[in-house]
Formats: sequence, C-alpha cells, structure tokens
Amino acid sequence: MQSDLMLPPAPIAPQVYQARRARLMQKLPSHSAALIPGACLVTRSRDSEYPFRQDSDFYYLTGIVEPDALLVLLPDGSDQGGQSVVFCLDRDPTMEAWTGRRLGAEGVMREHLIEQAFENAEREKQLNNLLGGREMLYFPLSNPEAQRLAEQAYRQAQAAQRRGHPTLQGWLDIAPLIHSMRLIKGEEELTLLRHAAAISARAHCRAMRVAAPGLHEYQLQADLEHEFVWQGGSGPAYSTIVGSGANACVLHYIENAAPLKAGELVLIDAGAEYALYAGDITRTFPVSGVFSTPQRALYSLVLEAQKNAVAAVRPGTTLNEIHQGVVEDLTKGLIALGLLEGELDECIKAESYRRFYLHSTSHWLGLDVHDVGTYRLDPDTPRPLEAGMVITVEPGLYIPNDDDIPDDYRGIGIRIEDDVVVTAEGHEVITSDVPKEMDDIEALMANK
Ligand code: GLY
Ligand code: MN
Ligand code: MN
Repeated sequence: MQSDLMLPPAPIAPQVYQARRARLMQKLPSHSAALIPGACLVTRSRDSEYPFRQDSDFYYLTGIVEPDALLVLLPDGSDQGGQSVVFCLDRDPTMEAWTGRRLGAEGVMREHLIEQAFENAEREKQLNNLLGGREMLYFPLSNPEAQRLAEQAYRQAQAAQRRGHPTLQGWLDIAPLIHSMRLIKGEEELTLLRHAAAISARAHCRAMRVAAPGLHEYQLQADLEHEFVWQGGSGPAYSTIVGSGANACVLHYIENAAPLKAGELVLIDAGAEYALYAGDITRTFPVSGVFSTPQRALYSLVLEAQKNAVAAVRPGTTLNEIHQGVVEDLTKGLIALGLLEGELDECIKAESYRRFYLHSTSHWLGLDVHDVGTYRLDPDTPRPLEAGMVITVEPGLYIPNDDDIPDDYRGIGIRIEDDVVVTAEGHEVITSDVPKEMDDIEALMANK
C-alpha cells in the first residue's frame, strides 16, 4: 500500500504570501487601509461544527488556516507596499487542550512573516489606532464581518472628525483587486494544482477499477474520497457527483444513492482539495466495462468536441471562442445522429442544442473550484486567456428520457472534463493520468 503514496509537493513559502501582500498594497493609495477577514467556524448541528475551511482570499494573502482571524493592510507607498497586521485567536490553554495549538500573535509574526500581530481580545482598541486618519477603506463588500468592522470604523471616524482630525471618506471593494491577482497562478500554485489534479485522476482510475453492477453510486463516492484523503488531500473540493444511468443528466446530482446497473453509463464529477487547491475532473464510463454502440456514438461526439476545445487553449483565445467551437461540434454531431433537425447555422442560432447541452464549457480553477476573476473585460469583451490561467474544459451531452428521442439514446448523460493550464506556448493538461479514450477506459476496467 505504501508504494501507492504520491510524493507531496513543498508547501508555499511564507515569503510568497508576503510578496502577494506587497503587490496588493502597491495597488492601494497610501492614505487607505484594507480589512480582509478570515473564515469562522460554522455550526453543523448543536455543538458540532463543519471542518474549518479558510476563506480563499484571506488564505491567498497569509497562508494562515486558523478561524476568526483578520488581516489589516496599511499601505504606505513604499516599495514594500506597507505594513501587514493580523488579529488572531487568543492563546488559551483550556481551549487549546480541546481544539489544538493556536499560533498566537507571536506565532503569526514568526511563522507567517506578518509585521505586527495582536490577539483578538485587543481588536477593538488596536483597530481604532490602526485605522485612525485613514481616508479610504477597502474590504470585501460582500463580507458581513468586514461590513461590521467598516461601520465601526466609520463611527470612530465621525467622532475623530468632530475633533478636527482627517477622517474616513468612503470605502471600496477590495475583492476585484485580489481576484485579478488570483486569476494568474504563480509556479508554486501550479505545483499544488498539478498535485490536486494528479490525486483526483488517481481516484477516478480507482473508481473505474472498482465499478461493477450491483454496487451503488455511493460506494464509488466512498472509493474516490478515500483516495483524496489517503493522498493527503483534505477531502473533496466540492460535493462528489456519481450519477449512473439517467442520473447523469442531472447536472448537480449529489444523492449518489442508486444501484449501478449493467449496460448503463456512470458519470463521475469529482476532485480532491489539496492544500486548499481544487481538482475538478469528470469521466463517464460503462458500469460493466464495455461501451454499447449508441453509447459509443454519443461518447465519441463529446470526446471529439472536448479534444478540439483543449487543443484551442492558448494565450489570446477566449473561453467564449472555445465554447462556440464546442457548440458547433456538438450540434453538428447531434444533427448527424438525428437528434436535431435542420441546418447547423439554424440550430446554433435558435440554440436548439441547449436541449442537450445547457452549461458552459469552462470556468477558472484554483483555490475555489469555480475560481474567482471576471470572464469579461467589459460587457462586450470576453477576457483573452493569458499564461498562468487555469481552466476546465468540460463539454457534455444530456439526452432526456422523452418520447421523441430514439430508445437507444434516452437517458444517457456524458461529460468529459479536464483541468488545463494556459502556458506561453499553448496549454498543459494536468489531468491526463485518467484515460478518456473509450478503448483505454475499457482496457483499464478489464485489467482492474
Ligand atoms: N464540479 C463542478 C464543475 O465541474 O463545474
Ligand atoms: Mn468544472
Ligand atoms: Mn466538475
């Protein structure tokens, strides 16, 4: 079993987070401050909580995984950008006996290269000092904790104004600034994404080997998620989808409760989270290891469209163009199979293909499975791809169980999804360790 273990990559060094904070502060005016709260624990039931997952923006800027933290950035117009301050959980021997070691202010400064840190007990007093005289406040406008802190700062500022001090003039959303940084991944992030992708690929291979009629969808889920954690991931990066038969046509099917039946396909959309980075893979394969003729016909259509889409990934192209290529390929194939009637242009213009393919082809991938960053530069201009972006390519076909559909195709759902890094030369597929060619899938399932 030990030989199954993959070599884990090095964690991201604190200097990388420090450089990100500096880069962000260089974008902010020197009379401003930024407030970026970390995530809190969330109650699952009564006194038990969901496993802690750090806020992705806070994590991107600090690497700290404790709950209830707050990052304050104080830009000063210097080359270093300014000062970072973190508020963190108070050291507390009793609490630490229950839930484990806390970093404390000392630990935050030492281990995370934060210039100044305070425990949360000092928050109110120290925040007033730090924010006094700052005229512009940046924070994630959608974050209720940040809103509360900003309103508190505003009340303090009003009091200071009455005493004649320069004071807070307004606030702006910091999210777009952080998200445009997160859109382009650094080499150290790509290393972690490759690892999340490799674990995910291995889990998919494992599910293909294990699948057999008589098992249930949840048993494949258990097998995938076993591999995620076995390889040092924190678990799934999103709810695992195992949809057999017509369940594959429900895009976000997560019940995973049905028995696997001979002759049906099973669609698995599952990815590991590793060091907070997401893998996101979909494969569709026959429960009993051999594709039927109609399944082959539909599968080869999706596969062709997927391979053409992957081949189109390079700097300068847009996700819009890639999606349009997929729509054209799938629509052409649906007409050839008799599932759509009419000329190609008409079917595309009327969007009749949407009966069988209603989602988009790609999304950004990173710390979040549907990662941050805008898809358009303005409403009329799709964003051109750049080296360092990471996307998914995931066309599919979902044939409803309707009377006008030939029996052979009814209730078949197929999606093929890979994770792709945009490189200066073109692209790198980071999920190719799991087969997607039908013959390769059948061979893997036959050899177990
Ligand atoms: N697993 C979510 C997605 O593929 O977008
Ligand atoms: Mn996806
Ligand atoms: Mn997916």
